[in-house]
Amino acid sequence: MDVKYFIKQYVKNPRTVGAIAPSSEKLACKMVEDINFINATCIIEYGPGTGVFTEKILNKKKDSTIFIAIEYNSVFYRLLKEKFKHEKNFILINDSAENLKKYLNKYNIDKVDYVVSGLPFASLPDAMSKKILDITKDILKSNGEFITFQYSLFKMRLFRMYFERIKKKKVFLNLPPAYVLKCKS
Ligand SMILES: C[S@@+](CC[C@H](N)C(=O)[O-])C[C@H]1O[C@@H](n2cnc3c(N)ncnc32)[C@H](O)[C@@H]1O
Repeated sequence: MDVKYFIKQYVKNPRTVGAIAPSSEKLACKMVEDINFINATCIIEYGPGTGVFTEKILNKKKDSTIFIAIEYNSVFYRLLKEKFKHEKNFILINDSAENLKKYLNKYNIDKVDYVVSGLPFASLPDAMSKKILDITKDILKSNGEFITFQYSLFKMRLFRMYFERIKKKKVFLNLPPAYVLKCKS
């Protein structure tokens, strides 16, 4: 079902959806495996799509941890809204990650522990990517982490402009295989 949604949205919006299928279970596990769910007070997700990473985070987070997911595509947004309607301290926003600050102000959140991103930086306009990475760097706590995945290492230079320490791991069990990048200042 989610795959059907995804392909349809990819055909309509190839640059922003950026993938023909949702990420695999294996990739989702790698994305969240090092998150310290005991200490995290706020986690952000960019571009949840059909919610593969969202579900993992919701299953592992404490009830008191605030989790904000921001999705640009309104079809995905409606699907997620229905799927996760009973979750505690889960805030779903239908907007671009470029506008995240507005919502953090609304909820009185200054800094966050993790930003988990599903955004297709390789196909997003450069100005949009830079704006999102500027905000990300600004909202992360000093030991906070930006976790993203990419199908190629083509955008590494961009990530290195923002983060000094980047760990990368390749996940073969995904279509296509992907790199998980864990980035810190
Ligand atoms: C490659 S898909 C990843 C979806 C999901 N995280 C996964 O791994 O299956 C990219 C997602 O980012 C969303 N997206 C693209 N640009 C965005 C933006 N500026 N702000 C928020 N979401 C965005 C797309 O609508 C899509 O849901």
